Amino acid sequence: METLIPIINRLQEVFLTVGADIIQLPQIVVVGSQSSGKSSVLESLVGRDFLPRGSGIVTRRPLVLQLVNVAPLQERKQMEIGTYVFIAVQIQSDVLLKALIFTDFSEICHEIEAETERSSGDNKGISPEPIYLKIFSPKVLNLTLVDLPGITKVPVGDQPEDIETQVQEMILSFISNPNSLILAVSPANSDLATSDALKLAREVDPDGRRTLLVISKLDLMDAGTDALEVLLGRVIPVRLGIIGVVNRSQHDINTQKSLEDSMRDEHSFLQRHYPSLASRCGSRYLAKTLSRLLMHHIRDCLPDLKTRVTVLSAQYQARLNSYGQPVEDHSATLLQIVTKFASDYCNTIEGTARHIQTSELCGGARICY
Ligand code: GDP
Ligand code: NA
Ligand code: MG
Repeated sequence: METLIPIINRLQEVFLTVGADIIQLPQIVVVGSQSSGKSSVLESLVGRDFLPRGSGIVTRRPLVLQLVNVAPLQERKQMEIGTYVFIAVQIQSDVLLKALIFTDFSEICHEIEAETERSSGDNKGISPEPIYLKIFSPKVLNLTLVDLPGITKVPVGDQPEDIETQVQEMILSFISNPNSLILAVSPANSDLATSDALKLAREVDPDGRRTLLVISKLDLMDAGTDALEVLLGRVIPVRLGIIGVVNRSQHDINTQKSLEDSMRDEHSFLQRHYPSLASRCGSRYLAKTLSRLLMHHIRDCLPDLKTRVTVLSAQYQARLNSYGQPVEDHSATLLQIVTKFASDYCNTIEGTARHIQTSELCGGARICY
């Protein structure tokens, strides 16, 4: 089942690149009020530092993040390029603007900031135009994640008067996709009943079939209070679950506390304060839960997806035929066409990354459909 996810990711990219934006594929979208910890949660899911985080409005454009699990490279290659290969691709409508390869996470963070400024200025403006980022690594689970600006009420800097409506519409455009899993992030130090995240999630998912609640900032609760009732679902039940986490504080970010240290401290914090729930809380458990939910979701979507692929395939076949060249293999599937397309596309990306992408796609073509 796990092998399906890279295939779906691949299809999504190719459909987007050919401008056939008709297939809505599963993805995980973080939603919450500003500074609730959305970017921090995503970062701990990826397991490395690379997202701009901080107080105030930091995330100002949607960031579509594809994590692709790949086999470890041969030892020599590995030494040359490190464990991870990253490719950031900016796409405007269906035009590929640039593809960059990074082997250093801090460079990615700078690139995201530069891209954000390019389209939304340097004074807190926002833009609905997404940044696309792919991460290839043997250390990630196969997930597509979307980081979004937080819900905010009062315009600051260059923000328009209707900033609240604009951000809400941007969020709704992602989470109203029925194939989105919603990660509603709500800080433990504010009352769950006032959660903007849950409110928006319920608008598009009233039955709670695709909303998972993350309670952040467990470490910042008032003395004498805890989140036990909330985490047990006794305040507001959430069908898919409620998972408490402790991310890094601003001080931790400023002093460059590593994610490993943060995870270790999160674990001991949970053991100390929530011993009965420790095995069902924390960033690692969240990653596992998401992966499982995503697979169930894809399984449920497959019949419909297959129908749509068949239709598209027929359309492309008809178009190929209309070029008047003999088409040798009449059973040519959409996947064969997109494989060709993707290998052309991959030529813009050098070396190892190209190898990874192509072999991944070819592997996919054998398994699927
Ligand atoms: P976003 O605006 O929702 O993306 O939130 P960020 O991830 O940028 O985090 C906002 C601020 O809250 C940053 O200074 C983080 O360090 C801090 N923060 C996030 N989660 C936690 C947490 O669980 N505990 C503590 N102490 N601070 C957190
Ligand atoms: Na923030
Ligand atoms: Mg953010």
